[in-house]
Amino acid sequence: MCGIVGAILKRGQVLQGMIEGLRVLEYRGYDSAGVAVATADGIRVAKKAGRLEGLEGVLVERDFPDAQAGIGHTRWATHGPPTDLNAHPHVDDSGQVAVVHNGIIENYLELRDELQAKGIELKSDTDTEVLTQLIGEELKDSGLAVAVGRALARVRGYYAIAVLRGGSSPEVVCARQGPPLLVGLAREGTWLGSDVLAVIPHTRDVIFLEDGDIAELTASEVTVRDMEGKVVKRESQRVDWEASHTGKGQWPHFMLKEIHEQPDVLAHTSFHRIDEEQGDVRFDEGGWTDADLAGIDCIQGIACGTALHAAHVTRSLIEGLARVPVDLDFASEFRYRDPIVRPGTLALAISQSGETADTLAALRKARELGARTACICNVAGSTMVRESDSALMTQAGPEIGVASTKAFVAQLVAAYLLAIRLGRARGVLSRDRGRELLNDLRTLRPKMEQLLSDDFREHVLGIAQRHQGVKGFLFLGRGINYPIALEGALKLKEISYMHAEGYAAGEMKHGPIAMIEAWMSSVVVTGHGLMAQKVRSNIEQIRARGGPVIAVGADRESLDLADEAMEVPDCGEWLSPILNVIPLQLLSYEIARLRGCDIDKPRNLAKSVTVE
Ligand code: AGP
Repeated sequence: MCGIVGAILKRGQVLQGMIEGLRVLEYRGYDSAGVAVATADGIRVAKKAGRLEGLEGVLVERDFPDAQAGIGHTRWATHGPPTDLNAHPHVDDSGQVAVVHNGIIENYLELRDELQAKGIELKSDTDTEVLTQLIGEELKDSGLAVAVGRALARVRGYYAIAVLRGGSSPEVVCARQGPPLLVGLAREGTWLGSDVLAVIPHTRDVIFLEDGDIAELTASEVTVRDMEGKVVKRESQRVDWEASHTGKGQWPHFMLKEIHEQPDVLAHTSFHRIDEEQGDVRFDEGGWTDADLAGIDCIQGIACGTALHAAHVTRSLIEGLARVPVDLDFASEFRYRDPIVRPGTLALAISQSGETADTLAALRKARELGARTACICNVAGSTMVRESDSALMTQAGPEIGVASTKAFVAQLVAAYLLAIRLGRARGVLSRDRGRELLNDLRTLRPKMEQLLSDDFREHVLGIAQRHQGVKGFLFLGRGINYPIALEGALKLKEISYMHAEGYAAGEMKHGPIAMIEAWMSSVVVTGHGLMAQKVRSNIEQIRARGGPVIAVGADRESLDLADEAMEVPDCGEWLSPILNVIPLQLLSYEIARLRGCDIDKPRNLAKSVTVE
């Protein structure tokens, strides 16, 4: 999704800070970039299709003045191809204002016709330029903030925008309806961004704007108004992420760095919450006490992508340990299927970013239908956290790689804790059983670290080398590890662009087995107990038809049956997804690297899908 950064400063120049902010936002995925700065005689803009380096090249060539107010943007094309002309910022006819935008203006065609009827010619294919010209028109008889409010009142859709006005006293206004937007209060001035990572190099005191907010920024303060122009109070929050978290350090890719951060993520997400004495879990976030949970009779899980795979594992954990029925759906399906929500339902959204449009919409739908809402989320202050009745925060730190790894493992850890909390609150889990489960969690870290050793990585690399050229992959799993098969397939798809399909192993004989041949590699996640037996027979069915099998897990007999084995230390069934996913993350990473793919910024993908 698009990245937005901007500032109005008391001192210093804004350009370098904006470029650095856009560089941090690159991880969100983009196809063009641009900046605008305010000068005494108006606005200066530099924008270019392609990577940020291309834009920096233009800045060097062109006389681009030092200025103290500016806005910048990385665009993920929705309306019109990624060209220099369609890149943001867009400037109005008078040359007074520049606009950057994340979102979609649904009624832009009718607004464009209206502008053209007034003789205003639009130069690009974008909906953003239509909004820019609207603001320019309104500016003829009102101040900037009012002009922005009036223009937005004409708009249907959703947006996060920043508007820059040039002249002797530059102005910056920003507004939000849907995609995230925040303002950072720094000593040297005021920063704005679509992601907290863009402003934490300058300040960690942040105001997260709400839907409908229009914020007027000066170099020393922020005034927030609603769409009617009434001033509204927005408290600033202290963000506990460090700017240093956003660096790659000595790692070749963010994804590999984040895979290796998983033992720390396990510790940060769980150890401070363990109540050894009671064999229970304590969440600092409100909404998880026995009383809060007493009225919950069923759970509706909603999420997208990798987070939905975490929701699948969550269902196994909560139904298995707390005996609460859990239903699941794609957020993008739930929001449109006129769902039935029974009394006593807890709608549980899972999301790394807390800004995924489909998941937010599904959560709001569930609330409309009477559900209590909760989320497992990684970003404090995100829309989902602020809108949910209760939140359970994962402590994975900022996840820059587009392909989610450490946030996924953090979601599984949080789900394990939640299942124990629910089980203890409902009297389904004894204190002793709670202590056992928590002890299993506490002893997981050294087992996880075994999978991150150089030797293990070398072993996975060998498997990647032998299988990088196959026609495709089937990822198969059962029970609590079926979602791990789905996740392994998604990881491989999104960073290596190879065909990979995740499937319930028991479904093999109902179709996919027809695809088995020497050039179709099968990655099979082994199980425990009865599941292990079933998985062994799946492996035998595949091998009997000449299909190569890569087995991953702790079941020795399954590993011995396979052509290739990625052995995982045994940690018991409930925690096995957390370990089993790591070899699959590494396998997808090594195959993508061998294929020369852009691992941290895969084509067509965005880190947080804040539009439909
Ligand atoms: C994960 O590897 C993907 N990039 C994607 O499926 C992601 O999980 C999905 O878009 C949901 O994002 P969220 O967790 O921020 O809601």
